[in-house]
Amino acid sequence: MDELKDLTIGVIGLGHVGLPTALGLADLGWSVVGADDDDAKARGIAEGRAPFYEPGLDLLLRKGLDTGKFQVAPNGAAAARRSTVLMVCVGTPQRENGSADLSRIESAGRTIAANLDGYKLIVEKSTTPVQTADRLRQSIIRYSRRRSPDTGNGAAPEFDVAANPEFLREGTALDDFFNPDRIVIGTASQRAADLLSRIYQPLFDRAGRKAEEALVVTSVNTAEIIKHASNAFLASKVSFINMVADLCEATGADVTDVAHGLGLDPRIGPHFLEAGIGFGGYCLPKDIRAFQKVAQDHGVDFSLMNEVDSINRRRIDAFIEKIRKALWVIRGKSIALWGLSFKPGTNDIRDAPSVSVVERLMAEGALLRLHDPQAMGEFQTRFPASPPQLVYADTAESAAEGVDAVALVTEWPEYGEVDLRRLRGRMSIPLIIDGRNMMDPEAVRSLGFEYYGVGRP
Ligand code: UGA
Repeated sequence: MDELKDLTIGVIGLGHVGLPTALGLADLGWSVVGADDDDAKARGIAEGRAPFYEPGLDLLLRKGLDTGKFQVAPNGAAAARRSTVLMVCVGTPQRENGSADLSRIESAGRTIAANLDGYKLIVEKSTTPVQTADRLRQSIIRYSRRRSPDTGNGAAPEFDVAANPEFLREGTALDDFFNPDRIVIGTASQRAADLLSRIYQPLFDRAGRKAEEALVVTSVNTAEIIKHASNAFLASKVSFINMVADLCEATGADVTDVAHGLGLDPRIGPHFLEAGIGFGGYCLPKDIRAFQKVAQDHGVDFSLMNEVDSINRRRIDAFIEKIRKALWVIRGKSIALWGLSFKPGTNDIRDAPSVSVVERLMAEGALLRLHDPQAMGEFQTRFPASPPQLVYADTAESAAEGVDAVALVTEWPEYGEVDLRRLRGRMSIPLIIDGRNMMDPEAVRSLGFEYYGVGRP
């Protein structure tokens, strides 16, 4: 296929989706040019500084820049002009009514439309409601006619649109890129499907896998729904097990054993059954609302999603109540919070449970000592240190110095390795409220701690 010989792939939007994707594609041997509206961020990336923490990303960025396989364009228009395949990886944040704000998708589409010079494949990678790719295609036709005299008045520009949603998880994004469970390609064009399949083929060659096992080629609308439904299903699993955890707690059962027993059924599976403080991050919370909203717009009852959402919101209340029950009065109590990122392996605090927990405990007059292995910088920009109400500690142990309780919010592996005997010596009161069921209750209690987990006797 000739168009592969000098193929350049443009990636518009270099965030948690765009940057790992761009660097992964460059590592597969493709020439990749990235662009981001945030000039400072783009400049930093061009100089080899990853704008967020993601395991392995720094190394891959340096490699991409050193080999020249990854370059940063001054803007989206330049990336569009240089590329045949354009991956749109811009953010789709939540609007006030819960729907997805698609303005950055539309704007990327207009930039591409103004720079259509020969065949281009526009790939929607961002998470978008069903029918977005169709709207993007219409918008590109409209704006390319209006803006590009080269295409001639009314002449149809040559391009395809495909929906190729990403399934990368923060914290394991590169691993997910290189070892995909599935690659979903939604398009009406055989040319687009072939081109995308060829782009991903090196992934399968490297792993000695057959691409057919992972490729799902379908329509654009179906691909978009696969993505939204995936995140909505994952969120539902988490809310389901959290709901069951409450019953376990009320009746003296153990939700970790319940989850184990459930997960052995292959129809259910063992993953995403960890009860705790609820799901956070930039994807699951906003995606279930956007999915719900698009269903509502089409007159389809998705009230199940409302329940999933409200069960999740109540997790924070339940956690605060657990702290209150343990401490009786929160005002004036010193509490160490372990873990601020929304999950381990990232410094992302967007929609992190920690944010609500800190707001609530501060409002109640607690004195907080915070620790996180990666996210303290991010957190401090939102909550500047103000001793003694808010203190940032270098280590988990030093956060626990003289406190009345440790509250574990994010299950970073290092928290499981803390020397509990030493910890006990540093705390004023040996009390642990474990929002992620990370610790072994028996072991912790045998060392003299008062311990509260989630959904455990
Ligand atoms: C999620 C999806 O898992 C990815 O497949 C998807 O590509 C991504 O969104 C996206 O749309 O971009 P991510 O947001 O990185 O990935 O995080 P998850 O691993 O899904 O975790 C989400 C939240 O659920 C975290 O707060 C986590 O602590 C929580 N969780 C997860 C639980 O509370 N219990 C579990 O059993 C699993």
